[in-house]
Amino acid sequence: KSDTDIRFVCRGTFVHSTAEEALQILEDALLGVDSKGKIAFIGEGKDLQKLSESFGFCSSAVTQLRQHEFFMPGMIDTHIHAPQYSYAGTALDMPLLQWLNTYTFPVESRFQDIEFAKKVYTQVVKRTLRNGTTTACYFATIHTDASLLLGQIANDFGQRALVGKVCMDRNDGVKYYRETSEESQEETYRFIKELLNKKYPLVKPVVTPRFAPSCTETLLAKLGEMAKNNKLHIQSHISENLKEVEWVKELFPNSESYTDIYHKCNLLTDKTIMAHGCHLSDEELVLFRKTGAALSHCPNSNISLCSGVLNVRNVLNHKVKLGLGTDVAGGYSPSILDAVRRALDSSKVLTIQDPEHKTLSFEEVFRLATLGGSQALSLDERTGNFKVGKDFDALRVNVAAPGGPIDLIQSEKPQILLEKFLNLGDDRNIVEVFVAGKKVVPFSEP
Ligand code: GUN
Ligand code: ZN
Repeated sequence: KSDTDIRFVCRGTFVHSTAEEALQILEDALLGVDSKGKIAFIGEGKDLQKLSESFGFCSSAVTQLRQHEFFMPGMIDTHIHAPQYSYAGTALDMPLLQWLNTYTFPVESRFQDIEFAKKVYTQVVKRTLRNGTTTACYFATIHTDASLLLGQIANDFGQRALVGKVCMDRNDGVKYYRETSEESQEETYRFIKELLNKKYPLVKPVVTPRFAPSCTETLLAKLGEMAKNNKLHIQSHISENLKEVEWVKELFPNSESYTDIYHKCNLLTDKTIMAHGCHLSDEELVLFRKTGAALSHCPNSNISLCSGVLNVRNVLNHKVKLGLGTDVAGGYSPSILDAVRRALDSSKVLTIQDPEHKTLSFEEVFRLATLGGSQALSLDERTGNFKVGKDFDALRVNVAAPGGPIDLIQSEKPQILLEKFLNLGDDRNIVEVFVAGKKVVPFSEP
């Protein structure tokens, strides 16, 4: 008899990804979650008696999923700008660099107002959780106190999160939205220290230079040093748009490539996630592979801002870690389901352009949305699939939810149910969301 103390047990279909299989389907499985929110066991329904004896739970207290329901791992948004949620769905009529100056920087500067920050950050955390994002990697703004508040709100609603106070010591476009280099370093240090002091179990700080053009080399190097000394996560943007790439060449004439700038400043590590990478060369991808740095694929944003189309197949062939991101509000949708669909569309566009291109399958993109994201954020020891010992981060999906977007004409196999949910589903199908074994949707207001 095990002395693990079981909090609850569910029985039904579980779908997830493993290193070997993009889609593994476990039908009539039995999964137990312990008092710490970790997966204690996953076995077969027929072994109920045996499992209930060895783990000491009552077999009548097992939650049975229905015909059209399944559990899948919670989805992971590897790149989202929390403040930009305030204008999501608008302002997509210009390319990146003008878009930043016209819409983004003026809006982000408003987050010195803590009440405004509270309102937007509460909404974005609730909206993403309801859409099945159990882990989010957030950019906040340059304001330390509002960034700390985002960490608190994620913690209060039970979302797993990486939160970054944005660093930028140059901005000629919008001069009132920038810091001095010293301020940026000191405030980043304060942000990290104060966030770690809160001891939120699921929220971690991430060192966040906005992107090379908004940081001096001095600041980039200092942030690289700070991340290294404290073993912290790092996030930024890279090679999103061709004008940006040209500008970076002018600003850093002594660097071999965009990737090389970050590398020289110790910003490429196995805890680094860089958004976009649409225009990276194969040599740059090799450097990503060597350093263990990851990419976040944000297809809605790449299309909405006409930035480019990332060749995900080429990234995967280079064995670079990759997850999906919404990039709200360059991407207008806060849902990773949307990112799944855009990733599939983008891959098909590449196949239209080159019939030799091997289109991504929905199973592969499902893996990017879950296990791939956890690997990209170096959180795969804790989340990403239903392996024993990981936290139970999961969505209970009802494909035939009443009033929902999907009509089932007949009973379908789990693989078809997942495909329909990925292509047609929305938050009405996500009936429950669990993070670390705790039910966080439907909400219990903190
Ligand atoms: N590059 C630098 N900042 C940003 C941002 O806020 N959004 C996007 N999409 N790209 C960026
Ligand atoms: Zn971004």
